[in-house]
Amino acid sequence: MSEKIYAAFRSIGAYVPKKVLTNQDLEKMVDTSDEWIVKRTGIKERHIAEDNESTSDMATKASEIAIKRAGLSAKDIDLVVCATVTPDYFNMPSTACLISDKLGIKNVQAFDISAACSGFVYALSVAKAFIESAMKKNVLVIGAEKFSSIIDWNDRNTCVLFGDGAGAAVIGATTNKEEAFIDVHASADGSYWDFLITPAPGSVNPATHAAIEEGLQFVKMKGNETFKLAVKTLTKDVKEILAKNNIEGKDIPHFVPHQANYRIINAVGNALNMSENQVVLTVHKYGNTSAASIPMAINDIYESGKLKSKELMLLDTFGGGLTWASALIPFAPKEND
Ligand code: UT7
Repeated sequence: MSEKIYAAFRSIGAYVPKKVLTNQDLEKMVDTSDEWIVKRTGIKERHIAEDNESTSDMATKASEIAIKRAGLSAKDIDLVVCATVTPDYFNMPSTACLISDKLGIKNVQAFDISAACSGFVYALSVAKAFIESAMKKNVLVIGAEKFSSIIDWNDRNTCVLFGDGAGAAVIGATTNKEEAFIDVHASADGSYWDFLITPAPGSVNPATHAAIEEGLQFVKMKGNETFKLAVKTLTKDVKEILAKNNIEGKDIPHFVPHQANYRIINAVGNALNMSENQVVLTVHKYGNTSAASIPMAINDIYESGKLKSKELMLLDTFGGGLTWASALIPFAPKEND
């Protein structure tokens, strides 16, 4: 009988655009204040891509770093999965195809995942399934967003919240169970479809002049309703994944939550009795970067030397759909085999 194959989190990389948009900058654009934004969200600044910088450009830069850190080259990648709701082109081609082209990856399956802020963890569940079924060996998983491209800069309810960026990870096959993903749980409740939505372009509202004039191409959010559901759902979800795997909150060195709002992160962290040094926080400097938020946060702790080989990460996320997901994954760089 052949040995069982597991998925291992081999490497991380990220790209953050240079341009910084501070709360003080936003004070000049809409009726808001640094005090309100910091108190309600924890966000101080966010990064914004250049006009000529696309989601796939940022994703390619993050991917190059992740592939190099995995000790691989582009030719070793046999599946490219990109989580994004701000693709280079709505409809087609997929952003994953564009990233593959920019990386020089040819004749390899590539597709996008649309699960908003939960997209990266959704993509991890796909990578795990492909690897454990022995269909693929080295999966490039990307979360990348140019959220600024769907923001109405006159809408204070949304324009203060989001930022741009990309993160990427290489998920590889291993027979060493110690390196393996412990669990990934992803779920959705489509009855809340209108809590977070960009109404156009799409088959319901094609890109007509009327749709654009109405601003249907911009993100709309029922913020407070989403906030309450996020706290309730995430608390339940992380408690369930920990209980199912007989792991306690105190045994998690790195709790990496989706970075939407400091108050959501704090509420979930408190429900798990997490101490401050267990909780990874980047929301103050990047804002909410949707599918890119978790890989960008993992990259932050990696680059600051806090994330060590074999250390366990608890990921949790919540977003449009509504979707949510959590994962228990050890960091398993190859050189430590
Ligand atoms: O990542 C995907 C999932 N997304 C999330 O998880 C986001 C979840 N939601 C949130 O993070 C929060 O709901 C927000 C930060 C969006 C809003 O915070 P809130 O505490 O829920 O505030 P609210 O929506 O209840 O609004 C309170 C007040 C309102 O004024 P009135 O009606 O009380 O007079 C808003 O008009 O704050 C006002 N407001 C603002 N004031 C200054 C809304 N946005 C702003 C702003 N500056 N930027």
